[in-house]
Amino acid sequence: MKILFSGIQPTGKLHIGNFFGAIKNWVNIQHDYKSYFSVVDYHSITIKYDPEEMRERVMDMAVNLYACGIDMEKTNLFIQSEVPGHADLTWIFNSVTPMGELERMTQYKDKAQQNAKNVNVGLFDYPVLQAADILIYKAEVVPVGEDQVQHIEFTREISRNFNSRFGQTFPEPKELLTKTPRVLGIDGEKKMSKSLGNDIGLLESGEEIMNKLRGAKTDPARVTRNDPGNPDVCNIYSYHRLVSHEDERSEVVDGCRSAGMGCVDCKKILHKNLMKVLDPIRDRYENINKNKVSVREILTQNAEKCRRIAKQTILEVKEKMGLNPLWKI
Ligand code: TRP
Ligand code: SF4
Repeated sequence: MKILFSGIQPTGKLHIGNFFGAIKNWVNIQHDYKSYFSVVDYHSITIKYDPEEMRERVMDMAVNLYACGIDMEKTNLFIQSEVPGHADLTWIFNSVTPMGELERMTQYKDKAQQNAKNVNVGLFDYPVLQAADILIYKAEVVPVGEDQVQHIEFTREISRNFNSRFGQTFPEPKELLTKTPRVLGIDGEKKMSKSLGNDIGLLESGEEIMNKLRGAKTDPARVTRNDPGNPDVCNIYSYHRLVSHEDERSEVVDGCRSAGMGCVDCKKILHKNLMKVLDPIRDRYENINKNKVSVREILTQNAEKCRRIAKQTILEVKEKMGLNPLWKI
């Protein structure tokens, strides 16, 4: 089986864009590979944060992923900072990384602009840590969103640089993009994002979600109930594509185009189908949360496994780099 790696930052609450855009895909393919999923806390410290909140966020992200259906026991779901090899390999990769490559990274440029008062070396080096995450397990497949493709290209470059200097060691991993197009926020304009306040939280109650849907943008052509609309330009319909069955979708399409169905009813159908997906996740989340100790135990075991594998790669790398002189005596 090929090796798969992906990481997610402990960002606080997940939203349905994270779920339908990434995590659902992870769940679907997790058993087709030897999978590693990491809560990448070392990536998160490159931006100002509160340590108490971080403690919560890291654990909460693990519980969320578990609740979404990541098989914590069969796949290696673990916390990045508990496997020191990632940081070790980052330092090694720093020496085969041209500054110019990092300066080109668009995520760095964006974040440096947003956090102009705290542009630290970690923020700059972020893609190198990401390359180390992937390559320390010699992963070949990396399921990510469109915005991470540049980092995966960069990872291939680091792999080539290392291999050509020290001998064939690492694969050239490929990104695996989901078929789901990016999920827009309820404003119907920007990508769904917690910080923009246009998100629907994964764990929100049915009532909270209905309130958000009531205010969500639809096709502006439907000024009154009698004006026909076009589902192709309506963001609510793009959500239907995520959760509604074909039959119900064609009902919506016909109703919208003929003005036979109002937007309120359309949103109610969406809500019913969305909650069919979200209610079980929230139930699981609440149950798992009652037994966080066992999640902590599995995370510890998984980190242990990852450390063993990471150590093999580090030994191989150091051997190739001439960093183990005592070994040969
Ligand atoms: N940078 C990724 C993001 O912002 C998270 C990440 C860290 C990651 N390390 C990774 C993704 C390794 C894939 C593989 O979404
Ligand atoms: Fe959008 Fe549905 Fe209203 Fe049509 S009926 S405009 S698809 S919300």
